Amino acid sequence: MVELLDPREGETVLDLAAGPGDTGFLAARRLGTGGLLLSTDAAPEMVAAARRRGAELGLTNVEYRIVDAAAIDLPDASVDGVLCRYGVMLVPDCEATAREVARVLRPGARAAIAVWAEPDRNDWMTAAGRAALAHGMIGRPGPDAPGPFRLADPQRLRELLEGAGLEVTGVEDVEITWRASSLDEWWDVTLDTSRMLAQAVATATSAQIEAIRTGAAERLARYVAPDGSLAVPGLARVALAELPG
Ligand SMILES: C[S@@+](CC[C@H](N)C(=O)[O-])C[C@H]1O[C@@H](n2cnc3c(N)ncnc32)[C@H](O)[C@@H]1O
Repeated sequence: MVELLDPREGETVLDLAAGPGDTGFLAARRLGTGGLLLSTDAAPEMVAAARRRGAELGLTNVEYRIVDAAAIDLPDASVDGVLCRYGVMLVPDCEATAREVARVLRPGARAAIAVWAEPDRNDWMTAAGRAALAHGMIGRPGPDAPGPFRLADPQRLRELLEGAGLEVTGVEDVEITWRASSLDEWWDVTLDTSRMLAQAVATATSAQIEAIRTGAAERLARYVAPDGSLAVPGLARVALAELPG
């Protein structure tokens, strides 16, 4: 994403829904002391985590702010680039988010937006949900419900950005690999990072939890090495969009 955005020294870059900040921090290094990274998230805990991480990294050209991606507290045409990794699809009004991105960009400036590709290409994140669905413990989410796969269709992603007045200059698939030392570690990480699963497990019986774990383990078995470790392929999608100058 940062390579595609290609931020330059002295510029101002906004990282939206930045979580602990990693993506923006890569950009901050290119902005130099005269540039500025705005590392933002709606969750105060995430902003605090990013602030701690930025301090550990010794970054001095970063401001940390609580910002709702659907109502960005910045003037029109005030930033030279926007990064948003795995965030837009989680915002209930993702159209408003796209419009806000277009509003704060300077004419000719660009945004790099990453989403997850299709669920079938992302077994790490979907194995538990599939099993929970198969056992009737969760319902199937609606097609436009906020969630990791809401913008998986590249056409939908293009329409979202173009509908906000941005020109999409490319959509690139990016292969990734998720790793864990064991299926137990996969489960712990998944439980920690999936609200849907955490909610299902909170009200499930131990037999139901076991059924989810067994079903997911069957799906993930193809990625388990002889030593029990996992390497699960995943697919993300990055759109680069420009505000016409
Ligand atoms: C999957 S995490 C991604 C974090 C980070 N961008 C990364 O790639 O590691 C999604 C983030 O979106 C944030 N988020 C959800 N809704 C938001 C909103 N309306 N405005 C801003 N951030 C939001 C969450 O707090 C969370 O930190």
